[in-house]
Amino acid sequence: MHRAAIIGAGHTPFGVLAAGPRALLAAAVADSFASVDRNFERNQVEEAYLATLGFGGWQIGNASTVLAEEAGRVGIPVTRVENACASGGFAIRAAVRAVERGDRDVVLVAGLEKMTDVPNARRRYWLGVSGDTEWERLAGLTFAGVYGLLASRYLADHRLGPEALAEVAVKNHENGRLNPNAQFHKALRREDVLGAPRVAEPLGLYDCCPVSDGAAALLIARSDIASRYTDTPVYVDGTGAGSDYLAIQERERFTRLDATRRAAEEAFREARVERKEISLLEVHDCFTIAELLALEDLGFAGDGEAAALTLSGATRRTGRLPVNPDGGLKAKGHPIGATGVSQAYEVFVQLRRQAGARQVPGAERALTHNVGGSGATAAVTLFSVG
Ligand code: COA
Repeated sequence: MHRAAIIGAGHTPFGVLAAGPRALLAAAVADSFASVDRNFERNQVEEAYLATLGFGGWQIGNASTVLAEEAGRVGIPVTRVENACASGGFAIRAAVRAVERGDRDVVLVAGLEKMTDVPNARRRYWLGVSGDTEWERLAGLTFAGVYGLLASRYLADHRLGPEALAEVAVKNHENGRLNPNAQFHKALRREDVLGAPRVAEPLGLYDCCPVSDGAAALLIARSDIASRYTDTPVYVDGTGAGSDYLAIQERERFTRLDATRRAAEEAFREARVERKEISLLEVHDCFTIAELLALEDLGFAGDGEAAALTLSGATRRTGRLPVNPDGGLKAKGHPIGATGVSQAYEVFVQLRRQAGARQVPGAERALTHNVGGSGATAAVTLFSVG
């Protein structure tokens, strides 16, 4: 079996942007093409995958053809991948599998969402479409409300206050300040987070990711030809994926995302690496509670222990287990379909020592964790360099 390697990666700024979806896609793809060190021409792209929810109703059907158009590759097979906020992670997995099977030499993966041009009431509608419809959305539960329930249960079960949630926001905003593509470059103090307007108890404004526009793209090639394009390919060592019940009421426990656990188990088994070998994590912190749950579900902390780990400073960029050095969804932004691809972009620049001011020293192996909705789908990918 062939291994897959990333040979190029592109990214637009994330935030409230004037550009429309096509322009965002074109910019991310052009950036990924330009990032390849040598010998690359666009006609080497044999297949493409587009991750997008189609927020607000933009191009609900056949959106993947827009990617082929903007990449200058009309005619190749194209597929849209939609698993809510985990669309990017699953699109990467599809591309990796195509390369591993030997079906393709070079595959393009892009993630895109244009969210901020939708009025507030419709935004709330579209944010809810990836949760359960009968029992959650139509009963009036907002998306932040779902994570508010998970957070309340977590804090109650482990007899904790909200300080660790606030620390996630403080850390990720600190990291976001160093990322030119991040939506927010504003530092937060713990008291700012704890005193912010409430969104869904115990979550306030700064516990939530924002609504964002943006796109990201990756070029994934067979590892045995990657050296044609670069001296520093980033290898995909393992990809795992899992699912769970759509409605949180059906799940065994509120404070555990079994889809993440299944995805992590598969990825680590495939990569044959141990958790202690991982230099940095890009986890799905759509709400601050989600970062704590991720650390436990991915196996980096025991039940209820992610709070103390976070408060100890270990997950800061300079700590022993850096988490979300790019600012995470919280500060970098969360254009739904783009997020999983953006996480892999960050790994690409970090492992190649090209992350500038936010570089994690000595980064050699990394993990990305991308969650769909409130945990009904999850993808975990492990990467290494050299
Ligand atoms: N974090 C930090 N600041 C935020 C923010 C966030 N999540 N959301 C908005 N802001 C800031 C804005 O930049 C703006 O600042 P300014 O006054 O200095 O310009 C201010 O807060 C008000 O922004 P606005 O867009 O009016 O906020 P809002 O009340 O409409 O929306 C939320 C706030 C939290 C409800 C919205 O960001 C949200 O729904 N987030 C969750 C998105 C989501 O569920 N995504 C899918 C998850 S998987």
